[in-house]
Amino acid sequence: MKILVTGGLGFIGSHTVVELQNEGFDVIIIDDLSNSSIDVLDGITAITGVKPHFEKLDLKERSKVEGFFATHNDIAGVIHFAASKAVGESVQKPLMYYENNINTLVYVLKEIEKLEHQNFIFSSSCTVYGQADKLPITENAPVKPAESPYGNTKQIGEEIIKETCKVNASLKSIALRYFNPIGAHPSTQIGELPKGVPQNLVPFITQTAIGLRQQLSVFGDDYPTEDGTCIRDYIHVVDLAKAHVVALQRLLNDKNESNFEVFNLGTGKGSSVLEAIKSFEKVSGQQLNYKIAGRREGDVIAAYADTNKANNVLGWKTELTLDDAMASAWKWEQKIRNK
Ligand code: UD1
Repeated sequence: MKILVTGGLGFIGSHTVVELQNEGFDVIIIDDLSNSSIDVLDGITAITGVKPHFEKLDLKERSKVEGFFATHNDIAGVIHFAASKAVGESVQKPLMYYENNINTLVYVLKEIEKLEHQNFIFSSSCTVYGQADKLPITENAPVKPAESPYGNTKQIGEEIIKETCKVNASLKSIALRYFNPIGAHPSTQIGELPKGVPQNLVPFITQTAIGLRQQLSVFGDDYPTEDGTCIRDYIHVVDLAKAHVVALQRLLNDKNESNFEVFNLGTGKGSSVLEAIKSFEKVSGQQLNYKIAGRREGDVIAAYADTNKANNVLGWKTELTLDDAMASAWKWEQKIRNK
């Protein structure tokens, strides 16, 4: 069965391609390589023994998108990762974010509407909840005004899909709201490849430990949490990838309860920044150079998932721990720097 993965050479996309191929799906990747490397294809091939089909394609080029779908009209499902994801950059370049994340979503959906099988998985984010009033966060928690154009593209993206599903009963879709994806494939063939200075915690930790960054700044230790640092739900990217396969199978087997469903993807366990650092120190056997710095604008105090719906309705749960994720991220960092 032919599955299209947009952004399939990116961090979460590449891990999902591996899990899809492990389940026997025939995967086509499209990616514009704007934030990924062609070498990732070799990593996927080394893990699975199968080289996925790849086309370099920029989804903003509408006529090329039309041409692509016209030649691949037997696609059974689309997992749509392709998007820009740097929060700070989105504040500086809002129009670029709306074009990259919204225009392309519309183009892809318009083409999917021409297909016989209209199954669509969308990468959303826990950022849609903002600072939730209640923890853990259920899927029924209200969507809060977005803190950034990036966050807004996820909210608007979900709305676009939901409204399209209302008028097109053939379109079946699932929005997956990711908490904080970290880690790398245990084979160390694929992992996260942040461009420039990493904005996210775990790549910053591993780059500091390897000597690429001098010191990690912990953004704030005066939050109303047990140790004063922010709480997040860090989920191993391999667990996250597997959830996409389960969600896709749900649509392919007509098991969905409505044609637009939403699931939180997290572990259900919140960890503070200091706990994340401790986990890293434990699995790497080395001390991390860090200091306490001021708060980062836009950070929520605490966010972790209520996993009941994902566990009981989707039928998926995480199997790997924070330590597993840290260990794999560290192994990956050592591999890419020692090349
Ligand atoms: C961030 C984005 C979120 C996006 C997600 C995607 C922000 C404000 N939020 O989530 O919208 O969906 O990435 O990956 O950018 N931290 C430090 N020092 C650092 C880096 C991070 O202390 O150098 C802390 C942060 O304050 C936060 C935690 O580590 O408490 C996790 O940060 P990060 O990895 O950037 O993820 P989020 O902010 O949760």
